[in-house]
Amino acid sequence: MSSQIDHLLNETRRFAPSEEFAASAVATAELYEQAEADREGFWAEQSRTLLHWEKPFTEVLDWSTPPFAKWFADGELNVAYNCLDRHVEAGNGDRVALLWEGEPGDSRRVTYAELTEEVKRLANVLTGLGIEAGDRVAVYLPMIPEAIASMLAVARIGAIHSVVFGGFSADSLRSRIDDAGAKLVITADGGYRKGKVSPLKPAVDQALADRGDGEQLTVEHVLVVRRGENEVAWTEGRDLWWHDVVPAASAEHTAQAFPAENPLFILYTSGTTGKPKGILHTSGGYLTQAAFTHRNVFDLHPESDVYWCTADIGWITGHTYVAYAPLANGATQVLYEGTPEFPQPGRWWEVIEKYGVTIFYTAPTAIRGFMKQGRQIPQRRDLSSLRVLGSVGEPINPEAWIWYREIIGAGRTPIVDTWWQTETGAIMVSALPGVTETKPGSAQVALPGISLDVVDEKARHVGHGNGGLLVVTEPWPSMLRGIWGDPERYRETYWDRFADQGHYFAGDGARLDEDGDIWLLGRVDDVMNISGHRLSTAEIESALVAHEATAEAAVVGASDETTGQAVVAFVILKESYLKLHGPDGLAQQLRAWVSEQIGPIARPRDVYIVGELPKTRSGKIMRRLLRDVAEGREVGDTTTLADTAVMSVISAQVR
Ligand code: WT7
Repeated sequence: MSSQIDHLLNETRRFAPSEEFAASAVATAELYEQAEADREGFWAEQSRTLLHWEKPFTEVLDWSTPPFAKWFADGELNVAYNCLDRHVEAGNGDRVALLWEGEPGDSRRVTYAELTEEVKRLANVLTGLGIEAGDRVAVYLPMIPEAIASMLAVARIGAIHSVVFGGFSADSLRSRIDDAGAKLVITADGGYRKGKVSPLKPAVDQALADRGDGEQLTVEHVLVVRRGENEVAWTEGRDLWWHDVVPAASAEHTAQAFPAENPLFILYTSGTTGKPKGILHTSGGYLTQAAFTHRNVFDLHPESDVYWCTADIGWITGHTYVAYAPLANGATQVLYEGTPEFPQPGRWWEVIEKYGVTIFYTAPTAIRGFMKQGRQIPQRRDLSSLRVLGSVGEPINPEAWIWYREIIGAGRTPIVDTWWQTETGAIMVSALPGVTETKPGSAQVALPGISLDVVDEKARHVGHGNGGLLVVTEPWPSMLRGIWGDPERYRETYWDRFADQGHYFAGDGARLDEDGDIWLLGRVDDVMNISGHRLSTAEIESALVAHEATAEAAVVGASDETTGQAVVAFVILKESYLKLHGPDGLAQQLRAWVSEQIGPIARPRDVYIVGELPKTRSGKIMRRLLRDVAEGREVGDTTTLADTAVMSVISAQVR
């Protein structure tokens, strides 16, 4: 790690914005001054400018009961109205909202007027099914227009969505449905992935099956979009086809205003324990920061840009920068169903050429994957429409940054490396194109209105040239409002560490360079970042020990050329199992098992069967040492181990 950091800090390449770009840029340096002079006033003004408030707010921030913030609390708005109706009322109903591209090559253009109508019909269907404000609706859909419509229709009636990534297993879906107490699930028969239909409805059926454990299911109905045309089982009275009920519903629906702090969604993310956390976001503050950052960080000109964020709606990036911010800003965006490689590598570049994409937002893991395939593939396409490139999800190494700018951006486009989290709701750290001189590999500066610091264990500012922990020092509009059903865990996870100072602890290590710019160094807790997706070591360990062969398991994130980190598992087998079966093929079986239990993204790259695990005298597994083995390094300091010989045994077994 430390040689990597030194390498990073020797990065001296700088890219100043072109005069031409700066001349018509949305963001100006004055934003920093305005926010500096009056932070709350700044957010209030942004909110009034960017959103329609049915009842204007008079209060900005209520931080009287930290860590529970309220923003714009006495104001009222409707999130879906802000994303849809108001653009139609302003005469932009014919503007395309979604340029949807299915993986098999089918496509649909959905205008703001059409999307508004669909959402109104669906809102009527939801109400007809007994969904009321505050109820939870699970969404388990592929990247199709109905996914966006579902989120907005739930928001429109003041209910709360919980989108579950379509790549998650039936078990993961069930635990999320249970935790949120969802009344309705919206799903599809299946969606396209790598040329095949990947079934979804069967996973919903499995998630909702009676397991004979006496547990009461909260789900009353399942609404199913036909997409994959794969055969599905049907539960009469519970299941409904979208195409039967939505077109038949009335297209008249007046959006009712809800208080700014009305919950908007729950999104589950991995923490340091086995149980995912339901991160809760609310309406007015979330939409304010979503719209502000989308407009300023991506230099959005809604009347002329074609924006494309490649994230799935199952992740926070898909919530904020596919579903909410682009629509709140009246943008035209591409929505793509499949993988970048199908039917051949270069499909994404084809999509950019076809739709004339101007703003492109993706993850470093994808960029590194494209680098490996070679520049000839993107160079076959006309990418000259691109004018801003964004990166998110993990640190982007300077080489990938430069490749992105040179090969995809023709050496001309500004790159914005955006740091944020499921919990922060929207971008917190990024360059502003047209303003910031960019540095490859650094996310750089806090956005206007955001207050951050890098501190040591005792909360002291580390100073330029030093590393420490990233903290947020003032509440921000799109901050999480809590963990669903678990206020104690919310406090413990984010606020206890720097309780005296009232700082939010992000869980990331960071370093300030000589100019005070921020370089993110990765997680400091037992959370891994695989292809920009967060996974917890504990969650995968608990899946591994649920297998009949496993006695004990330890999981680490080892650095990986393409995915940033990869899951590497060390497993001790049960004597009783070994006697009957032997270890042959078991590593493969365990990889598949984790994939079934959690989802393919959690599948370990390597599973090593070992005789022992390195533990301290108090029994804590020393993952640091296992990471050394997984990364093929000399094993570090073992003096705190209960048994110092154990590492040489493990190293030998792994080889
Ligand atoms: C974690 C949050 C919010 C976007 C998708 C991931 C890492 C995110 C960056 C970046 C370095 C980054 C952090 C953070 N991360 N963006 N630009 N540079 N690291 O959301 O699953 O909530 O994960 O992703 O470690 O804590 P998430």
